[in-house]
Amino acid sequence: MRGQVAPHDFNEIIIDTLLLTEPQLKTWLNVNVLTDLGENLPPLFCERIQIVQALINLLTNAHDAMPNGGEISIHTRYDADGKRFALQVSDTGSGIPKAIQKKIFDPFFTTKEVGQGTGLGLSIVFGVVKAHGGEIEVESAPKQGTTFTIYLPKEPIQKPVSEPRAKNHGRY
Ligand SMILES: Nc1ncnc2c1ncn2[C@@H]1O[C@H](COP(=O)(O)OP(=O)(O)OP(=O)(O)O)[C@@H](O)[C@H]1O
Ligand SMILES: [Mg+2]
Repeated sequence: MRGQVAPHDFNEIIIDTLLLTEPQLKTWLNVNVLTDLGENLPPLFCERIQIVQALINLLTNAHDAMPNGGEISIHTRYDADGKRFALQVSDTGSGIPKAIQKKIFDPFFTTKEVGQGTGLGLSIVFGVVKAHGGEIEVESAPKQGTTFTIYLPKEPIQKPVSEPRAKNHGRY
């Protein structure tokens, strides 16, 4: 199925994703989700459902990294000079050891127990970002937390194409 690229309100996508996942988020004990959404953002040309999927995967990972609870912060901005959006998802969780940071976007790379994760979440995020002509960065400090930053150009370089979902990535 080919996806639809259309202009969307970036913040609205974030808010709708949080509403969509609210029943799940409510079961995340001691996890607070904070938002800091930039003002007057121009429209983002994107395939909405893909951005939703990417955010859900990042939220799920953030939750998994905080078994004793913590804070997830979601931050959006538009950089008019660079003509690109930034989305940051930060957590106060376990952090990602430097040695494995290069591998986390590889399909099937997981540090989770068998049955807990397939290692596809971040490879899907990576695919979504690349399909929109964007970049993704990770910053992490052991036991302090992790921040993923996604940069998306105002208008995509190439038309993103939805791929069939590799699996029912379904804990939401
Ligand atoms: N926010 C995070 N904090 C700490 N480690 C993380 C975080 N996000 C990802 N990781 C690490 O990167 C690995 C790969 O993440 P990815 O989302 O691709 O797979 P997964 O979460 O293990 O499984 P799945 O997403 O398929 O359920 C994780 O197993 C974990 O080690
Ligand atoms: Mg994951």
